[in-house]
Amino acid sequence: MNVTFKRHRRLRKTAAIREMVRETTLSANDFIYPLFVTEETNKKTEVPSMPGVFQYSLDRLNDEVAEVQKLGIRAIILFGLPHHKDEIGSEAFASHGIIQQATRQIKEAFPNMLVIADTCLCEFTDHGHCGIIREGDVVNDESLTLLVRTAVSQAEAGADIIAPSNMMDGFVAAIRKGLDEAGYVDVPIMSYAVKYASAFYGPFRDAANSAPAFGDRKTYQMDPANREEAVREATSDLEEGADFLIVKPALSYLDIVRDVKEMSNVPIVAYNVSGEYAMVKAAAQNGWVNERAIVLEKLVSMKRAGATLILTYFAKDAAQWLYEET
Ligand code: PBG
Ligand code: ZN
Repeated sequence: MNVTFKRHRRLRKTAAIREMVRETTLSANDFIYPLFVTEETNKKTEVPSMPGVFQYSLDRLNDEVAEVQKLGIRAIILFGLPHHKDEIGSEAFASHGIIQQATRQIKEAFPNMLVIADTCLCEFTDHGHCGIIREGDVVNDESLTLLVRTAVSQAEAGADIIAPSNMMDGFVAAIRKGLDEAGYVDVPIMSYAVKYASAFYGPFRDAANSAPAFGDRKTYQMDPANREEAVREATSDLEEGADFLIVKPALSYLDIVRDVKEMSNVPIVAYNVSGEYAMVKAAAQNGWVNERAIVLEKLVSMKRAGATLILTYFAKDAAQWLYEET
């Protein structure tokens, strides 16, 4: 044959050689598993739009955490369903709040499990917004005061990492200062630095009962059309002292994961959100896709894009599948 060409298939010939040249790998170490905790008793309630995801009451929580730990997953992130909501979300920063109780309980029973606290008000406000409302919109600076109180009370309860998801301006600076002044200089901030106003959060709002009662979150969460704005958000959070940067959602935003990876030198977390989970589950339940293969392919794509860690409702399944493969 006259034409010269490259034989790329040489490196694909056997499973052994493919594994040897593989550029990206997944492990249970990479995952953060979200847990929904409810202020009820003896409840393990499946979320209708998220098959396989449950809300747990405190008395049912430890069994679940034990399973997560057994699978080799190091970190969980907690979301709370309080029995009382009000205008300012006071249960978010109450010392007996559901997140504070769950955190204390888990840290006592599983000292090595990393507990990440999601710091926001929307699960605790009666209007479902992520801050305080004045004249129909969320006000920034007043909301910061309550978010700082929330973060400090979460650290007091023993949270290992604070993950503010509220998208107020200056939340990293304010929370860093609040934590430091309260003596928590060593508690890292995993900032939801780049969070889009996304339709992919739909099922989560059922799971956490946190849908806004009016309007939407577009005055604080980002426009899905914007890429440069993501760099501005990530830059300011780094300047303010963020230890990790979250990009959320993950799959429609892998370009942003790569951008943020390239402009920073902290661990990047891709948040594989509820709608992304629900879509795969629905297709899999219909027998239209191979769930296991699809999920592992999606997760590896997040790491390939630049994520160090993946926050995903698939963490347990994926950890199990990875274990079976070895
Ligand atoms: C709260 C919060 C949300 C998610 C995580 N933290 C919802 C929102 O902003 O409406 C979404 C998670 C998911 O969809 O999996 N601020
Ligand atoms: Zn919120």
